[in-house]
Amino acid sequence: MSGSYEIIDHEFDVVVVGAGGAGLRAGFGCAEKGLHTAFLSKVFPTRSHTVAAQGGISAALGNMGEDDWRFHFYDTIKGSDWLGDQDAIEYMCKEAIPAIIELEHYGVPFSRTAEGKIYQRAFGGMTTHYGKGTAQRTCAAADRTGHAILHTLYTQALKHKAEFFIEYFALDLIMDDEGVCRGVMAWDLDSGALHRFRAHQVILATGGYGRAYFSCTSAHTCTGDGGGMILRAGLPLQDMEFTQFHPTGIYGAGCLITEGVRGEGGYLTNSEGERFMERYAPSAKDLASRDVVSRSMTIEIREGRGVGPNKDHIHLNLMHLDPDIIHQRLPGIAESARIFAGVDVTKEPIPVLPTVHYNMGGIQTNYRTEVINPTKKNPNAIVPGLMAIGEAACVSVHGANRLGSNSLLDLVVFGRAAAITAAETVTPGAPHKVLKGAGDAAIARLDHYRHVKGKTPTADLRLKMQKTMQDHAAVFRTGDVLNEGVKKIDQCFKEKKDIGISDRSMIFNTDLVETLELDNLLSQAVVSMHSAANREESRGAHAREDFADRNDKKWMKHTVTWCDDKGKVKIDYRPVIQTTLTDEVEPIPPKKRVY
Ligand code: FUM
Repeated sequence: MSGSYEIIDHEFDVVVVGAGGAGLRAGFGCAEKGLHTAFLSKVFPTRSHTVAAQGGISAALGNMGEDDWRFHFYDTIKGSDWLGDQDAIEYMCKEAIPAIIELEHYGVPFSRTAEGKIYQRAFGGMTTHYGKGTAQRTCAAADRTGHAILHTLYTQALKHKAEFFIEYFALDLIMDDEGVCRGVMAWDLDSGALHRFRAHQVILATGGYGRAYFSCTSAHTCTGDGGGMILRAGLPLQDMEFTQFHPTGIYGAGCLITEGVRGEGGYLTNSEGERFMERYAPSAKDLASRDVVSRSMTIEIREGRGVGPNKDHIHLNLMHLDPDIIHQRLPGIAESARIFAGVDVTKEPIPVLPTVHYNMGGIQTNYRTEVINPTKKNPNAIVPGLMAIGEAACVSVHGANRLGSNSLLDLVVFGRAAAITAAETVTPGAPHKVLKGAGDAAIARLDHYRHVKGKTPTADLRLKMQKTMQDHAAVFRTGDVLNEGVKKIDQCFKEKKDIGISDRSMIFNTDLVETLELDNLLSQAVVSMHSAANREESRGAHAREDFADRNDKKWMKHTVTWCDDKGKVKIDYRPVIQTTLTDEVEPIPPKKRVY
């Protein structure tokens, strides 16, 4: 019992928070290795946002032509604009090949070539021979690859008898006085009960915080709950200024139209019917990396060559593609375009606009997925008992800009790595330390929000935050716009004090859930804006008009940020890892990034 709340206790070896692609891969891997494992998920696992991933998952299988994981390694580093850690990138690109074969054996229904191999399509920034050729490296299950992978991983988790706590909202980490993570507190949305999960390892797999923005491809559930918990625990987040805009969100609706469309031969045009990407990226054209394409589209619109009555978007053309190809390989986007844009893709272009899609930043980890809490003495100090994976984490394999189809790969490779680390560090069935008052702070916070009586509805403050992020941390940024954004987002944080919610119930109180989610989003919006204002250079997705060039001398470093409960931000930096794990591949020194 804590105050007037009854607490239900559980003990597990491992608790995974989030049951999307990364969480499921980690959790069933732990269960497979004999660890007593639980999943906490605020939605039914197969509704996690991984389900929305369309185009595919990268791995240098070489099924459609020559390829090598070292080419993938090079492309990922170049795509990251040299902010990615090269040890982790080596690990991911090399492990990609067995990871895909493993997925195939688990039963992922990949599309096939005529010879029965896994079908692979071209994606942006993917090359052979270190930029010389074009790679077809993205393994696809039509344009529903995330759906296929998520369902397969869920069946694996059931098979290995991991336990599911579904529609449980994770409130906060349980940390002891020595800085060790001992578990997590959660609220069962259905019964209203509070649960204390003790665990030897907590794995945060809670996804990104795309909903900090007004227009994004992310599900409404993408509220960065893990990142919020990390900041409240006094731990830092990394590289939060780097937000990816996907070039082809449906204009007005924000839904994703996969890059696979351009991989299958689709292209972008402006109001003059010009294939403008030929000017910006003469070699890769429409398959340049996402930051480059999104910036080019934004410039076209700014210079008056946008399409539509307001000249405020761009056309994505696939009318020239064989309808059989669309039917076989892009059925989902044909349906989305019809429903959300009223467009028959065989006859008309799809109206598109760069739309927030992915957070490169997140919880700082090493390639073993252990969470880092840098100290003066040890910049690589880990937080015992705590790991993070997937979009919630920043390993950092994506650096300043993620390449398309490296996200599903990140989920499965580092999900698997988390299971390996957990098996190395946890003795199955080891006793748990009993802590006095464990979880009290989490309950006090919940109780506070449950009873707030301020004048600001949660939805109003959320909208204010989302508009601030959309207007002040966009595709192009300047010091003035960012500094104004800092003031506005800090003000949003202050206005949390005035939130009022209408429902006091503990059972499916969506107002309270959304308020807790907003709390998570707000602290991450604050550190994102501050980090962006501080970084005076352009790198990857962070494009400053007042500092148009990348500045390796001064800025080839990761941003590390903290935010306290008053909204006070602290910023520090750490070097990028420019060495590899093995001598199987040479580190790639920085050079000019052209496509
Ligand atoms: O365009 C897409 O299909 C998205 C893929 C990704 O973000 O990796």
